[in-house]
Amino acid sequence: MADRPSAALAAVDRALADARTASYDAAWAMPGAFYTDPVVLAAELDYLFHRQWICVGRVEEVASPGDFMAVDIGNEPVVVIRGVDGTLRALSNVCRHRAMPLAAGKGNAGKGLLCPYHHWSYDTTGRLLGTPRLGARPDFAIADCRLPAFALEEWLGFIFVCLDATAAPLAPVLSELEERIRPYHFEQTRLRYVADEVWLCNWKHLVENFMEGYHLSTLHRETLHKVNPTRLCRHFPPGDGYFGYYAGFDPSLPRGQKGHPDLRPEQYDDCVMFAIPPGLLVGGAADYSSFLCVQPAGIDRVRVKLGLIFYGEDWPEATVDWAVRLFQDTMAEDKTVLNELGRGVRSGHYRPGPLAGPDFEGPVLDFFRYLARHLPALSTPF
Ligand code: FES
Repeated sequence: MADRPSAALAAVDRALADARTASYDAAWAMPGAFYTDPVVLAAELDYLFHRQWICVGRVEEVASPGDFMAVDIGNEPVVVIRGVDGTLRALSNVCRHRAMPLAAGKGNAGKGLLCPYHHWSYDTTGRLLGTPRLGARPDFAIADCRLPAFALEEWLGFIFVCLDATAAPLAPVLSELEERIRPYHFEQTRLRYVADEVWLCNWKHLVENFMEGYHLSTLHRETLHKVNPTRLCRHFPPGDGYFGYYAGFDPSLPRGQKGHPDLRPEQYDDCVMFAIPPGLLVGGAADYSSFLCVQPAGIDRVRVKLGLIFYGEDWPEATVDWAVRLFQDTMAEDKTVLNELGRGVRSGHYRPGPLAGPDFEGPVLDFFRYLARHLPALSTPF
């Protein structure tokens, strides 16, 4: 019994190594421990969420000076705040006094952040301004104290933060993907729906689910199947920092006409589904697009920000409401399955099955390969 946990992790290591070399037609699902073992989660936090570029939302959420949103990146409290100078920053959301998180949720902080505990105050760049009743001390200089700042990049209207000061810039890694999707001009879209939720599943199950079209015509028989049937899915080659596929629109449906003029006619025929791992998932289309920002909140909990962005201004409320309902209904169908997968992968009798071909579950293999490239060996101390 004593060596069973490491045996399970060794099986995960072998499966990840196999994923790196497997062809799309000979790839397999992952062992249960990949989704249930706390050692895997610890490695994911350390090597992915605390080191890679993590998408936390859209620029429209923090559009005006003083606007902020508090986010956890892995285990790290961060506040994304637009300064009174108009610059967007990612600051540590931990008070320099006794570690109270400064901001919660979203809002406008005016000229700065005020700690709710003892009212230390900071300006919108993170500089400490006030320390009530502290008095002058020879061993502490207010002028030298500030909230640590993290790297932040805006990419097509998405906000990415990286906790690792040594990380390479994000945009160059995404240049090939950007070439592919540039005509959609996601940076010119408008956020019309956003919600923060916690789902009861492992975060990787949500990534895999959003990024494969195999289940569109089965699980979503009454919803997405009528729009994006499985038979019209087409995988596209992944890059180092992205992967994805096209989900074709059913030919019998009328095509939207509201997209950017740069779009080619055939781009109205597909939804471009792409992931920027570990956590951003986008279902991009000419007229409106969905996105998910995914982060683990435990081995069987995932924090997810769900949003819809629309190109152009002249969208009737009724059409937006219809799109929101379709999105919510689809996500609810996904949630019913994903909330059950945790029980399945804990079964002592589960053995991983073969993945369907590249057009259907190819992005799942791309995700496994991304993880294999970035995670250390899990069955030995890291
Ligand atoms: Fe923030 Fe004390 S913990 S002022």
